[in-house]
Amino acid sequence: MVNKTGLENDIKYVLLDEAQLKDRVKALAQQLTEDYKGKNPIFVCVLKGSVNFFSDLTRHFKDYCEYDFLAISAYGNGTKNSGIVRINKDMDMSITDRHVIIVEDIMDSGLTLNHLTAMLRERKPASLKVITLLDKPARRECAITPDYYGFVIPNEFVVGYGLDYAGLYRNLPYIGVLKPEVYE
Ligand code: IMP
Ligand code: MG
Repeated sequence: MVNKTGLENDIKYVLLDEAQLKDRVKALAQQLTEDYKGKNPIFVCVLKGSVNFFSDLTRHFKDYCEYDFLAISAYGNGTKNSGIVRINKDMDMSITDRHVIIVEDIMDSGLTLNHLTAMLRERKPASLKVITLLDKPARRECAITPDYYGFVIPNEFVVGYGLDYAGLYRNLPYIGVLKPEVYE
């Protein structure tokens, strides 16, 4: 593999390749198009990890919808959830009486989404659902399940397609498992 870059050398194996991601994301968008017909939902992108998923998901949603963004951090630069969720940037729009779909990259302990959904419910949306590309149920620390998910994955630390380790690897077009020696 002489042409491998340093970036790709940090990947132990590809868990989900570009074709798998594309097919699944398109299917999820078709499902949402049916479920939200005539509802003009607000898709909320949880920055930064969800950007790639958000962008591919919404481009296959075939009805009226609006976008908003919020930034939240729970991890710092490590791979374990500290349990502390910080809102770095709130949404711009009012979600009262609106149908809201939170778009997340991964549900791990679930603490981030637990906190986020509780916070957004106080704003009295007409409905609030969560879609996550990846679900790691083995690590759940609270009673929360996604309304929609792309893939259930094993308990491995993954990067790519928006997901990072220490801010890096988001630009990989696939989801890969990071070599443990990169973060140990
Ligand atoms: P939770 O609060 O433990 O569910 O963590 C959710 C957030 O942790 C995600 O939105 C990611 O930003 C980050 N995270 C959890 N697992 C991974 C992983 O395997 N790779 C990269 N980021 C992860
Ligand atoms: Mg995230």
